[in-house]
Amino acid sequence: MDELQATEHWQQIYSTRQEQELSWFEDTPGISLELLLTPPLDQDASVLDVGGGASRLVDALLDRGFTAPTVLDISEAALQKSKMRLAGRAALARWITADITEWQPDRDYRAWHDRAVFHFLTTEEQRLAYRSVLEKAVVPGGVVVIGTFALDGPERCSGLPVRRYSPESLAAELGHHFRLTADRMAEHRTPAGKAQGFQFSRFVRE
Ligand SMILES: C[S@@+](CC[C@H](N)C(=O)[O-])C[C@H]1O[C@@H](n2cnc3c(N)ncnc32)[C@H](O)[C@@H]1O
Repeated sequence: MDELQATEHWQQIYSTRQEQELSWFEDTPGISLELLLTPPLDQDASVLDVGGGASRLVDALLDRGFTAPTVLDISEAALQKSKMRLAGRAALARWITADITEWQPDRDYRAWHDRAVFHFLTTEEQRLAYRSVLEKAVVPGGVVVIGTFALDGPERCSGLPVRRYSPESLAAELGHHFRLTADRMAEHRTPAGKAQGFQFSRFVRE
């Protein structure tokens, strides 16, 4: 799937479905918050949610006083959903429509979060491009939290094939600039009631 097809795929999904109908919907991004904020981050730390879609992580960061969270997604329709939900508070966040594998970081980031995006990168070329952006964007000492389907998780999501990871195999993908400091296994319950095995890993940029 090339970039144009990927954009169309995700635009179609977010344009035709309600947020709560999406299989990855979660009311509260509990594990993401725990791993991002332990140890605590300054409220003015630049936090990037990669492929944030319509996730409520940005709401939770604003609730906690973060001054400029950034949400990036390949789908403009996804970001519109979050902006509509946040209404007046949307102006407190930064919004970027881009394919993460093609993006040029616009500033340094202290924290990078990705829930269920990296696992869609099925070619080595895509993963190397993601890693190159990650290395450019995150400052030394910065935190990186990535959630993917676990080794026992689904093989497809949203009609697309995925790759599944353990914390160790994800660490091997990211390379020696990123030190694994914590991980959690999690069972996500989709709105249709299906259980999906996830792993969340926290890294520090060396
Ligand atoms: C399974 S959803 C997860 C959304 C969000 N992280 C959450 O937890 O609710 C995957 C998201 O990644 C976005 N996405 C997929 N490929 C992308 C890419 N190459 N660059 C940026 N965003 C991408 C999709 O539009 C979608 O919002």
